[in-house]
Amino acid sequence: MSPKAVFHNLDVRSPDFKELILQERPELVFHQAAQVDVQRSIRNPQYDAEMNIIGTINVLESCCSAAVKKLIYASSCAVYGDLAVDKISEQDSTHPISFYGVSKLTPELYIRMFHQLYDLNYTILRYSNVYGPRQTSKGEGGVIAIFVDRIKKGLPLVIHGDGEQTRDFIYIKDVVEANYAAIQCGDNQTIHAATARRTSVNELATMLKNIHGAPIEVKYGAERPGDIKHSCLDNQKALQFLGWKPRYSVLSG
Ligand SMILES: NC(=O)c1ccc[n+]([C@@H]2O[C@H](COP(=O)([O-])OP(=O)(O)OC[C@H]3O[C@@H](n4cnc5c(N)ncnc54)[C@H](O)[C@@H]3O)[C@@H](O)[C@H]2O)c1
Repeated sequence: MSPKAVFHNLDVRSPDFKELILQERPELVFHQAAQVDVQRSIRNPQYDAEMNIIGTINVLESCCSAAVKKLIYASSCAVYGDLAVDKISEQDSTHPISFYGVSKLTPELYIRMFHQLYDLNYTILRYSNVYGPRQTSKGEGGVIAIFVDRIKKGLPLVIHGDGEQTRDFIYIKDVVEANYAAIQCGDNQTIHAATARRTSVNELATMLKNIHGAPIEVKYGAERPGDIKHSCLDNQKALQFLGWKPRYSVLSG
């Protein structure tokens, strides 16, 4: 962590969180905190909703009380569900297929309502599947962390389904740049932070095999409920409103 940063270990649902925001009076809030595990959301929708929906409402109320100028919210491609389109645009309809998708989408409605009623500026960034250093295995780009971890341990890679499911994998540094851009631009817009490129899980496994050099065993298992088949987000709006485009391919990332 940067030595210039101060870390407060607080739950976004707690009254202490509101107290802190009132005390610090930040100009900007980047709201990243969430329950990010799709499978957990299916096992425990109440917990998922408390973290992601009630937590966000507390963040929004805190921002209004402290006259925060702008909120930048980490939303997700999970809001779309399994849309049968090649590249999803921000105008496409949202049909989540997991409680996680619902609990990332619902705060967007609250954010827009807080803007309408209390003039709180926002940018909603809908990330595709994020990967990078210190990534946990539970989040949406989790397959990369899981594969790398299994390769390190000499274990076979396990693919759920036939491996032809595709994702739009985006490197964390690109996502950070999109957040930086949203400080000055993209007010009151919902914008994708994505590469607009598809990579199948089979292609990913092949890439990792080539990078690793030594043989890696791949096993196939059952598909999981709530898993999206294909997901690729258009990123033209980000270029237009944020002046941002990703710099990393999956291979370079
Ligand atoms: N990783 C992805 O592929 C991806 C894709 C789309 C959107 N997102 C969103 O990006 C954000 C960051 O996700 P990530 O992948 O870095 O996951 P992560 O699990 O690494 O980060 C989420 C963080 O939120 C914290 N947190 C959870 N509940 C909290 C609470 N009640 N109060 C305070 N902190 C809490 C966790 O401790 C964790 O540090 C999330 O909002 C997630 O929904 C991630």
